[in-house]
Amino acid sequence: MNIQGHAALVTGGGSGLGEATARELARLGAKVAVLDVNLENAKRVAADIGGAAFACDITNTESLQAAIDGAAAAHGAARILMNIAGIGSAKRVVGKDGNAAPLEDFAKVINVNLIGTYNASRLFAAACAKLDPLEDGERGVMIFTASVAAFDGQVGQQAYSASKGGLVGMTLPMARDLAQHGIRVCTIAPGLFSTPLMKQLPEPVQASLAASIPFPPRLGKPEEFAQLAAHIVTNTHLNGEVIRLDGALRMAPR
Ligand SMILES: NC(=O)c1ccc[n+]([C@@H]2O[C@H](COP(=O)([O-])OP(=O)(O)OC[C@H]3O[C@@H](n4cnc5c(N)ncnc54)[C@H](O)[C@@H]3O)[C@@H](O)[C@H]2O)c1
Repeated sequence: MNIQGHAALVTGGGSGLGEATARELARLGAKVAVLDVNLENAKRVAADIGGAAFACDITNTESLQAAIDGAAAAHGAARILMNIAGIGSAKRVVGKDGNAAPLEDFAKVINVNLIGTYNASRLFAAACAKLDPLEDGERGVMIFTASVAAFDGQVGQQAYSASKGGLVGMTLPMARDLAQHGIRVCTIAPGLFSTPLMKQLPEPVQASLAASIPFPPRLGKPEEFAQLAAHIVTNTHLNGEVIRLDGALRMAPR
């Protein structure tokens, strides 16, 4: 699909990988709606790229539907959904105090990263399936943002890895399910990227993480993620696939 002129939704578009993707899609001519729980950040990005900002919690159906409808009123129904909103977590199953990890922490990460992504995707797909088909019968495309932690999660990453592994597992059935509507589904599994999240870590920790990447031995740039996300939109034969974007990194146990 050509990006030029189409409406796009970017969840988590107020920061990091989502912000870079919103900027790249706008540069390529998309009408971009930035959806984020952090409205201030969403507004900052949207103002910069001539897009629209919506306060949106992907775990809340009402809030999501309002944002999708608001974006459609501003730009027309979206043909592109970039699911990038997500949260991290690290928690030992058995804590230093000998107690079991709180179940709520596990449930929260699954709720945002996995269920929230599914929630945005199903609402987007229902609206997108009603649009006229483009070339090849294509109606739209969506991307999930997993992580290399879906495959080589580290100690304490049970919830995060399970949530991202869930996205990996959902990719093919979703692509098969939505094929009849001409909607493609692909997943990007990023390695270590230099986002505000990562920049909170002390400099030496960032350097040692960067050195663990075979090549190039540096953190990924959010623009590199955005480049791949945009490519997936434009390459109609990419479907039902998970792509690692990690400089050949394989995470160590800890
Ligand atoms: N940075 C990395 O190295 C890396 C690696 C692998 C995977 N990822 C994944 O990439 C995605 C983006 O990560 P990032 O590093 O850019 O993080 P980030 O914290 O900079 O951005 C995430 C954005 O999502 C928003 N968000 C969080 N919960 C939300 C919700 N319930 N509804 C709507 N918006 C919500 C936040 O407000 C924030 O703007 C996440 O899914 C993360 O798991 C990041």
